[in-house]
Amino acid sequence: MNIEELKRAPIGVFDSGVGGLTVAREIMRQLPDENIVYFGDTARLPYGSKSKESIIRFSRQIIRFLQTKNVKAIVIACNTATAMALETVQQEFDTPIIGVIVPGARAAVQETKNKKIGVIGTEGTIRSNMYTRVIREIEPEAEVLGKACPLFVPLVEEGFVKNYSAVTEEVIDIYLREMRESEVDTMILGCTHYPLLRSAIIKYMGDRVHIVNPAYEAAMDLKKILNERNMNHESGEYNKYEFYVSDAAEKFKQFANSVLPYDVKYIHQINIEEY
Ligand code: DGL
Repeated sequence: MNIEELKRAPIGVFDSGVGGLTVAREIMRQLPDENIVYFGDTARLPYGSKSKESIIRFSRQIIRFLQTKNVKAIVIACNTATAMALETVQQEFDTPIIGVIVPGARAAVQETKNKKIGVIGTEGTIRSNMYTRVIREIEPEAEVLGKACPLFVPLVEEGFVKNYSAVTEEVIDIYLREMRESEVDTMILGCTHYPLLRSAIIKYMGDRVHIVNPAYEAAMDLKKILNERNMNHESGEYNKYEFYVSDAAEKFKQFANSVLPYDVKYIHQINIEEY
């Protein structure tokens, strides 16, 4: 690709399903001139309870698929896939690949006053300890309290977000009571679905705790990388967003239209096992 083609090339964004749309939404906001190819692995989600070997295999297949779309950079818009596969795939592929954990961890370290940071995520993300490792690399004295909140994902997927429900409040209380009673002053939403529960979580945790959304931070990092490499698409002559899934395209479309500030008209379904 020559430099003009490279600038115009899309950003590849992938997740196990719809959660990564919160990252795509941030990229659309912060980099409105960029084109995006999004892949949601709806046939194989959830990733949060899968083994590292499976997540690495899935990530390799998705990256190979995104490369057929000539993407200039890839964002792993999934905390679990970032925790389990980012370091491996960064070594294997030439395309620049970023995840959501380093940007989120860095923002939390910048924000905390007492060096006590909470992280909530899937079982896989919390078990991987990657947030703790990255936070301690930046701030060795930081204390990190991690908590897996596996029921948050189905709550979001089933739409228990907009209208506060007793169920949502009760599940938040079960998972976050210990965090609220701790001295944590900063908490990372370490799963791409959780920004959709942000207001309920803020309401529960109170003003004392600063909430970090890695989706926002990852979009900022992407902007910086594209600028440094002179790969940013400056002119808004057109911008194109394409969406691909491995299953259940219609359900994905409804969800995408409730999350994105943009009318999603068509979702392509592909067989990801072919890549
Ligand atoms: N997108 C995943 C994450 O951020 C959550 C959903 C799943 O378990 O697949 O960790």
